[in-house]
Amino acid sequence: MPEFDYRNGFYHVEDLDLRELAEQFGTPAFIYSEASIRAAYQRYQHAFTGLPHSICYAVKANSNLTILNLLASMGAGFDIVSGGELARVIAAGGDPKNIVFSGVGKLDEEISAALEAGIHCFNVESEGELAKIEMIASTLGLVAPISFRVNPDVDPKTHPYISTGLKQSKFGIAADQALALYQKAAQSDVLNIVGIDCHIGSQITEIGPFNEALKKLLELIDRLQQKGIHLEHIDMGGGMGVQYKNEPDINITDLAETIKELMSGRSEKIILEPGRSLLANAGILLTEVIYLKENGGQHFAIIDSAMNDLVRPALYNAWHNVLPIIQFPEQRQEQNYEIVGPICETGDFLAKQRRLKIQPGDLLSIESAGAYGSTMSSNYNSRGRAAEILVSGKHAREIRRRESIQDQMVMESTETFWPEQKN
Ligand code: LLP
Repeated sequence: MPEFDYRNGFYHVEDLDLRELAEQFGTPAFIYSEASIRAAYQRYQHAFTGLPHSICYAVKANSNLTILNLLASMGAGFDIVSGGELARVIAAGGDPKNIVFSGVGKLDEEISAALEAGIHCFNVESEGELAKIEMIASTLGLVAPISFRVNPDVDPKTHPYISTGLKQSKFGIAADQALALYQKAAQSDVLNIVGIDCHIGSQITEIGPFNEALKKLLELIDRLQQKGIHLEHIDMGGGMGVQYKNEPDINITDLAETIKELMSGRSEKIILEPGRSLLANAGILLTEVIYLKENGGQHFAIIDSAMNDLVRPALYNAWHNVLPIIQFPEQRQEQNYEIVGPICETGDFLAKQRRLKIQPGDLLSIESAGAYGSTMSSNYNSRGRAAEILVSGKHAREIRRRESIQDQMVMESTETFWPEQKN
């Protein structure tokens, strides 16, 4: 059963009618399907059977505690990029031993917290970071497990904002430099080398770039071996693309086969850090049409969601399908609409030129909004963040309540002065 589909002419998420969910929880709301998240995770587990592996979900795609808890309960590990994400994973019941810590700008307090929690490893991105981790581990009397994020200089053929594995990007360390840093780390009593890591970009829809990146990592691993440095794992990052419009989504089975082939006869464990491919198509943004208007021959549908809820179209010109909740609406004129939000910016659009039969009060589903939707949302125009709802069969659960204006204003009611004010 597809988890998102029309039944009797009305759009459903699993067994629930979106009209009922809108009535119960209001709009805009992110609606996720538990079955869909489970299926996406199982797809990886199934494809990688037979190869020692660990799926470390990239928390940045969707960091809702209930979703993290769901993934932890299925055995997922986590890829984090901040102390905040570390705290979320721990609060959600994730096992710190299955956490990898990525990111180019780890702060002292984040490094300390991760060391004390006992994470699986730091994916180190610079010499400066290595020195800092070594110093903090030594102060705390702990050993830091490390892996270097190597920049394999591979073109992932995706949007430039989310290409990360090219030589000129701010991420990772060049292969040659990595060799010297591994040797340096090997001298330290408080650093324990456990692996190697790369992440070449996001929304990659071909297997080729992954294949190329792994080959480059394997070459480096063999050179390290000659120097007496042995690794336990190879982390290939995330970036597996999904279908937003009509592009192919990446075939996880084919990806697994390619990796298995390159890994045959080797003993390192494979780590993957998928974010989008576990969540994007497991969620939608449910929204209501407020007004229709026409300006200069252009038809606009003004909805109650905006770029503060889902910034991907404004930021990357990303495509999200837009579906009406009523499959065959009558007595409505069909038009080509610009689907725009209430925010005071021309860039505030969710979709362009969509043929729809709608009228004010109708509900729409902005598709594929489960990843990089809620986590990238903001309070711009003092709009509260949307509610988040998890559907499991016939049941729905509000997993994040709609933010109120009090929630926003409470942060601004502290009165700390410096230097202290004298009366
Ligand atoms: N690992 C690392 C080190 C990453 O930087 C990322 C994503 C991932 C894993 C997960 O990648 P995924 O499997 O989700 O593609 N906001 C953008 C995507 C930014 C991705 C940043 N890094 C978007 O909405 O398309």
